Amino acid sequence: MTKAVKQVGILGVGSYLPSKVLTNHDLEKMVDTTDEWIVQRTGIRTRHIAAPEQATSDLALIAARRALEDAGLTPNDIDLIIVATATPDYGVYPSTACLVQDRLWAQHAAAFDLSAGCTGFVYGVSVASQMIASGLYKKALVIGAETLSRILNWEDRNTCVLFGDGAGAAVLGEVEEGYGILGLDLGSDGAGGIHLYQPAGGSRRPASHETVDNKEHTVHMNGNEVFKFAVKVMGKTAKKSLEQAGLSNEDIDMLVPHQANIRIIQSAAKHFKMPMDKVWVNIDKYSNTSAACIPIALAEMQDQHAMKKGDNLLLVAFGAGLTWGSIVLKWAK
Ligand code: ACO
Repeated sequence: MTKAVKQVGILGVGSYLPSKVLTNHDLEKMVDTTDEWIVQRTGIRTRHIAAPEQATSDLALIAARRALEDAGLTPNDIDLIIVATATPDYGVYPSTACLVQDRLWAQHAAAFDLSAGCTGFVYGVSVASQMIASGLYKKALVIGAETLSRILNWEDRNTCVLFGDGAGAAVLGEVEEGYGILGLDLGSDGAGGIHLYQPAGGSRRPASHETVDNKEHTVHMNGNEVFKFAVKVMGKTAKKSLEQAGLSNEDIDMLVPHQANIRIIQSAAKHFKMPMDKVWVNIDKYSNTSAACIPIALAEMQDQHAMKKGDNLLLVAFGAGLTWGSIVLKWAK
């Protein structure tokens, strides 16, 4: 018989950003844009881009090793690996999670990928925490990793300025009672999927010379629709997870939002009545790294001693699908 676990939380975090930095001024030479437009409309100044020989699993692996070291654990301790990504190494299989499992030599781990766009890490933590809470699994690695630069149309100024590459990872396991995940909420609205999608390369429109010539394997986005959707769902989902945790926004020490646009983040902060010094912002440096945004932020917060044991964090994300999710977490380290 397995024994149910009362409280699940984060035991360690790690991240990895590729060394190449692409600035807005670099982009001025590639598309019809300006540093001023990008900073004012999005808050982004630079983004990191994977080297040609780096794929998503390479970024994920480094973040995972750093998270394991932070947790004081070895790959042998891990029995579950979830990689949240929209940019797997291979179109179909093997999953990126299996590639990470092999290269980590995590011999006892089940591994699978999870597709929920930029909400992927929040979805992944939610799934892993329930698998641990059931008592069936003990320690999970949840990784958000992306090489979005590989699926961008570098001639489309509407999308190519917005995204970057990177990976973040968290090790989950049992924590002291009263700590860890106190509330969570997940949601989706598939009707809005068309606002952020990759038209070709899947079973609906398999890759062909025509689709490649038309750049249909790149990100197509209706930015205004995604913007309106994001502003609407962030408040709703946060309210639900706060209610579940029995907390109010005044109890939150740090809001850790998905980093898609500084104006979306500011609007969420206003909605939650949180001063910006209680909102983690790194979009200026890394842009939108999709599923990697939130774990990269957590690793950065830890490195900069921006949180301490007992702090209440509110993680809020939205993304392709369309999907959304939030987690209220009492930091257990
Ligand atoms: N440089 C200069 N001008 C530009 C650029 C650019 N890089 N991009 C667009 N423009 C132009 C447009 O062509 C338009 O010109 P027009 O008026 O002549 O037609 C003008 O700027 C205004 O365009 P808008 O789309 O109205 O600009 P807006 O202020 O809405 O900002 C943006 C666009 C930044 C895309 C915004 O809508 C946004 O951030 N949306 C959310 C996107 C998002 O979050 N995506 C990720 C979701 S998460 C996931 O799962 C991946």
